[in-house]
Amino acid sequence: MILVIFGPPGAGKGTQSRLIADKLKILHISTGDILRGATQRQTELGKKASSYMKAGELVPDELVREMILERIKKPDVSAGFILDGYPRNVNQAMELDRMLESLLKKIDLVVNIVISDEEIIRRLTGRRVCDLCGRVTHVEYEPQLDSDVCDVCGGELKTRTDDSLEAIKNRLKVYYSQTLPVLDYYRAKGIVRDANGRGEKNNIFSEIIGLIKE
Ligand code: AP5
Repeated sequence: MILVIFGPPGAGKGTQSRLIADKLKILHISTGDILRGATQRQTELGKKASSYMKAGELVPDELVREMILERIKKPDVSAGFILDGYPRNVNQAMELDRMLESLLKKIDLVVNIVISDEEIIRRLTGRRVCDLCGRVTHVEYEPQLDSDVCDVCGGELKTRTDDSLEAIKNRLKVYYSQTLPVLDYYRAKGIVRDANGRGEKNNIFSEIIGLIKE
C-alpha cells in the first residue's frame, strides 16, 4: 500500500504517519525528517537545504526529487510506504507519478488532515522534539514531568528551528500558495479522503484507519 499523508504544517502528519506505519507494518518516509537528518550530519544536501528550511521555504524540487527517488527504490519499501511531507507542489506530484510509474507502482490513497490555522499555531509553537530519541511531544498536549527532558529517554527537549512564529507564518503562506493545489491534482484522480485533524490523536488515528479500510 502506498499512502500520502497530506495537510498543513503541524496538522499531525508525522504523529499519524508513525501510528499508521506501526499498525500496517509499512515504512514511514518523511522528507522533513530526512532533510533534518542531512542538515544535522552536514551533508552536501543538508548544507544546501538548511537555509530554506529555517525560513520555512520549500527546498528546491531537484534536491528533494533525487532524495525521494533514492529512498523509494530501496528493497525495504516492498510492503508499502507512507509519504509524509511529499509531494509539496504540483510539480513534485507529477514527478512522483512518473517515478512510481517507472517502478510499476501507484498511490492508493491520499489522506488529507483538516485543521484550523489557529490550532496549527498552537501545536507548532508548543512542539518539543527530543534531541536523543527524536520523540515529538507538546508542552500543553503531551507535557513531560520536566519540561526540558524527554520522559522516555532523558534526552533534552528542543524547539525545531522552523517553529518560530515568523517561520510558521511563512510555512502557512507557502502551504496555501504552493502545496494546497496538490490536493486538487489528487481530487481529480478521485483518491483523496478527508480526516478531521482536531481532537485526541488516537481518535484521529481510528478515523484514518477507517478511511484506509473503506
Ligand atoms: P516537514 O518536516 O514536512 O514539516 P511540516 O509539513 O511543516 O509539518 P510538521 O512536521 O511541522 O508537522 P506535522 O504535520 O508532522 O505535525 P506533528 O505530527 O509533528 O518539513 C519541514 C521543512 O522541510 C519544510 O518547511 C521544507 O523547508 C522542507 N521540506 C520537507 N519536505 C519537502 C518537500 N517535499 N519539498 C521541499 N521542501 C521540503 O504535530 C505537531 C505538534 O502537534 C506536535 O507537538 C504533536 O505532538 C502535536 N499533535 C499532533 N497531533 C495532535 C493532536 N491530535 N492533539 C494535540 N496535539 C497533537
